[in-house]
Amino acid sequence: MKFIDKLKDIERIAIKEISDSSNIEELENAKVRYLGRKGAVTDAIKGIKNVPKKDKPEAGMFINKLKQKITVLLEEREKDFRSKETTIFENNDITLPGIKRELGHSHPLIKTTQEIIEIFGKMGFKAVESPEIETEYYNFEALNIPKNHPSRETFHTFYIENGNLLRSQTSTSQIRVMEKEKPPIQVIHAGKVYRPDAVDASHSFMFYQIEGFMVDKGIQFSDLKGVLERFAKEYFGDSVKMRFRPHFFPFTEPSAEVDISCFICGGKGCRVCSHKGWLEVLGSGMINPRVFEFVKIDPAIYTGFAFGMGVDRICMLKYGIDDIRLLYENDVRFLRQF
Ligand code: DAH
Repeated sequence: MKFIDKLKDIERIAIKEISDSSNIEELENAKVRYLGRKGAVTDAIKGIKNVPKKDKPEAGMFINKLKQKITVLLEEREKDFRSKETTIFENNDITLPGIKRELGHSHPLIKTTQEIIEIFGKMGFKAVESPEIETEYYNFEALNIPKNHPSRETFHTFYIENGNLLRSQTSTSQIRVMEKEKPPIQVIHAGKVYRPDAVDASHSFMFYQIEGFMVDKGIQFSDLKGVLERFAKEYFGDSVKMRFRPHFFPFTEPSAEVDISCFICGGKGCRVCSHKGWLEVLGSGMINPRVFEFVKIDPAIYTGFAFGMGVDRICMLKYGIDDIRLLYENDVRFLRQF
């Protein structure tokens, strides 16, 4: 076969392949096959030295033209593909509404916390922050829980380096606030607490509490009752009744546990209230004079009340959740319901 005929073959196949290519990638491959270092055209240039002298000028010119032709064809075809890309874009109606991102919402525990804080806020309680990493002094001593006192057991926690610990109750906020502020004080604080409890349907090693307290001249137990009753009616409904049961907390004297009548059965007894008709919701009492002494507030002049509640428990009661673990598993199928 004459060299020139070989060149014509290459030309014919190249034209077909380039026009048949259906995407940029195929086009790139064709480019390599013809113009690449080992491509057909490059090969032909190398082969020209073996062509008889008289045919050389014609063959040389043909190869030059062929190279040019293939280059132009490749460029045109590439332009074709690129313009189709923009046509796809142009054919879209960009005035159509976009894809909306699904909006999240507050976690039920955060929602419950905010609702409770808001109710107390309306009664004049100021929301404050207080640290989660504490010392024994704030978690125990200053709350009248001396070393070796049996009630330390109830408030056991995780001990970390340098004598620090993770607080096991938000009552620490009483000391933190009263160290800095003098009466009248009316404060509410929400946050995490930690206890080395084995996790089950009603226990978690970390949960949320809300602490509230009020200190001034002449604060009485009846003030505590009034404030808590207002809260219970606003949060659980107007028909809810309360009862105070005597209890012991080292930082309050007298102390009481507070129950509300079951808002599901109205006090008749049901599964939620374990057929008792009452639901325990918080601990409370009059601030122990020993606590005032630690923060240098004179108990002969000032009195105060305090209360503390578990947010998880209130949230579970309110929404009929029977396993605390659901609140910490981050399963969106569960969380979506709130
Ligand atoms: N700190 C208590 C607990 O974690 C709850 C509590 C009880 C807080 C009585 C108070 C209170 O302020 O007066 O169980």
